[in-house]
Amino acid sequence: MKLLLQNVKQLLANDEMERCDVLVEDGIVQQIAPQIDSTADETIDCNGHLILPGLVDVHIHLREPGGEYKETIVTGTKAAAKGGFTTVCAMPNTNPVPDNVKTMEQLQEKLNKDAVVRVLPYAAITKGLQGNDLTPMEDLAEFNIFAFTDDGVGIQTADMMYRAMKEAVRVEKPIVAHCEDNSIVYGGVAHDGEISKRLKLPGLPSLSESVQIARDVLLAEATGCHYHVCHVSTKESVRVIRDAKKAGIPVTAEVTPHHLLLNEEYIQEDDANLKMNPPLRSKEDQQALVEGLMDGTIDFIATDHAPHAESEKEVGFRDAPFGIVGLETAFPLLYTYFIQQHNLSLKQLVDWLTIKPAEAFDLPYGRLQEGCAADITLIDLQTEKEINKETFASKGKNTPFHNWTAKGYPVLTIVNGKVVFKEDMNG
Ligand code: DOR
Repeated sequence: MKLLLQNVKQLLANDEMERCDVLVEDGIVQQIAPQIDSTADETIDCNGHLILPGLVDVHIHLREPGGEYKETIVTGTKAAAKGGFTTVCAMPNTNPVPDNVKTMEQLQEKLNKDAVVRVLPYAAITKGLQGNDLTPMEDLAEFNIFAFTDDGVGIQTADMMYRAMKEAVRVEKPIVAHCEDNSIVYGGVAHDGEISKRLKLPGLPSLSESVQIARDVLLAEATGCHYHVCHVSTKESVRVIRDAKKAGIPVTAEVTPHHLLLNEEYIQEDDANLKMNPPLRSKEDQQALVEGLMDGTIDFIATDHAPHAESEKEVGFRDAPFGIVGLETAFPLLYTYFIQQHNLSLKQLVDWLTIKPAEAFDLPYGRLQEGCAADITLIDLQTEKEINKETFASKGKNTPFHNWTAKGYPVLTIVNGKVVFKEDMNG
């Protein structure tokens, strides 16, 4: 099967763009050249849109099995395709939890059948994400798993994390951590700061995150484990990770689009579409995250796409579940707001969503080169429109960005040479 993409623009190092054609054959990028005259089974006129490597998101929630009313493998991966993501890593806070070989086998089967983009599943660190007993990590590592995590909850004891890291080193997989020390959460639902006080909401202290990261980087140093920190949200966490990297500890970290774009001041009323864990923190925290990303302390961006039903979010900040969706808004929002606000290059943004996560985890994706898997995203940088949650492919409509105006929407997504999302490109 030969697919010819004609009239695309390629991004160069200095943000200049160069017109070219791309030939894909049997799932592989065969040729990138100013003009390709080969005959193909399918030719797409790409109308001068920007061609990028397919985006990579190592932190999403598909909810299946067990939470199909929030999202399914089909809807979640369609949302990924619509957002330009070609590889996503699915968190294990499902029911049942993929904490044993049988459940993992069933999950892989379902993914093979239903997923429209590449999904690399996580396996749990502890049985049932309960923090008490390690999963059979050696057996689970035999499957095509991405890494081990108990995402959604922190590993509460140093002993458990120490043992998990030693085992992860033995089976050559990373440990990916949601960092939260429950003993100092105090029932918090919003950042412990000005806004939680004003809205009389229980505050979630910054320390609950940074304390656990500080513990874990020392454990990573002791074990040599690749330790990855999920959704960093505080300035203290950034400092701890920066120091750990300076000390040569094998730590990597991610930040979400919402923590880069928003802070607690955006919570003006009791709107649970601004409730996520970790919460939106102070302006200084937000600034520290941006600086951390720019100086390489934070390696890349991941969405933490966390769909919930509208009825669950309607009950208000105190009782609604944590989490917002992100797959379909990440690129346009970051392109429209983030790089302009901070005078960054488009190339930097693209790297944080492609090659940086791929390199952090040694994945052979996130590159657009001859001989590589044909994972491709085409972006329309011109057309401006409002984000409309009703048009999401995701079942989750829980976004604080509804009605925000943005440009930079994906118009074509290709995974392994197969078109998985396509919009009208002539608009
Ligand atoms: O906001 C969040 N939602 N944070 C998490 O850690 C879990 C996630 C979810 O699963 O809904």
